[in-house]
Amino acid sequence: MNKPKILVARAVFPETLARLQQHFDVEANQADEPWSAARLTDKLKGKVGALTTGSDRIDDTVLAACPSLRICANMAVGYNNFDINAMTARGVLATNAPDVLTETTADFGFALLMATARRMTESEHFLRAGHWTTWRYDMFAGVDVHGTTLGILGMGRIGQGIAKRGAHGFGMKVIYHNRSRLEPALEAECAARYVGKEELLRHADHLVLVLPYSAASHHSIGAAELARMKPTATLINIARGGIVDDAALALALRERRIAAAGLDVFEGEPRVHPDLLTVPNVVLTPHIASATIPTRLAMANLAADNLIGFLTQKKPLTPLNIEVLATK
Ligand code: DGY
Repeated sequence: MNKPKILVARAVFPETLARLQQHFDVEANQADEPWSAARLTDKLKGKVGALTTGSDRIDDTVLAACPSLRICANMAVGYNNFDINAMTARGVLATNAPDVLTETTADFGFALLMATARRMTESEHFLRAGHWTTWRYDMFAGVDVHGTTLGILGMGRIGQGIAKRGAHGFGMKVIYHNRSRLEPALEAECAARYVGKEELLRHADHLVLVLPYSAASHHSIGAAELARMKPTATLINIARGGIVDDAALALALRERRIAAAGLDVFEGEPRVHPDLLTVPNVVLTPHIASATIPTRLAMANLAADNLIGFLTQKKPLTPLNIEVLATK
């Protein structure tokens, strides 16, 4: 019997591929070639499923050209690369990869916060360049983390993980803003207090962004919001590029209107706004918050299990548009 055809749009772990090959006729991109939208569409033609990543855009144009497609399984918790409405309208199931990356990503958020507050990359560059000749009282003096106020914008699972690290590990006072307030028990677990966005901006010593990207969250942090922050504050973005206006941030950093920023995600990545590359008080990493081997393997395997579960038994593990299941 012919196996159903699927596409794996980016390189994945060989064991994930082997698992998929037990069930499907797999076309894989193990060479990790960068595909244009047109090439991705061509590759998707005739396929019933796809394992995608955040850089593979699935919109109505792609879907219209690929009527056999029934599921796209994203190897990411974020899914702003999917046009969910178009997928639902065309009866294509979308799945993401939540939970398996929560703690790893929260670890990274905290690491980026600490590296930013304590100027770790800036001072390392200085040392590597051979500029270190003596001790000086204010050399790379940064801002404290312990005992300060941690602000979190977006209080999903990753935000909660960061809150717990800050409150219980570093004695930080935690304030957060979110579309909806957490249940009291969860607030107590995170030792976090709900505040309005204005209060969050004005009181946070370290502001961490962990909200999903959508048209509504585009440029949630722009010039006006940066102007409300403390001049000693740091801003950390591990959510998505586009949530921050990168040009406005680069200017605020250059003019020292906030102390520093740590960015793992960028508007239009992998392109980085050139002004961010020339300001010293920013730590820049290439979208690696979930990048440990065990976590990336768990993400890939969850995406694979969604494909297997749905295409063999109509039982995906983490569906996003469940209304599609009712029509299958
Ligand atoms: C996610 O899972 O959304 C991450 O940003 C992908 O690396």
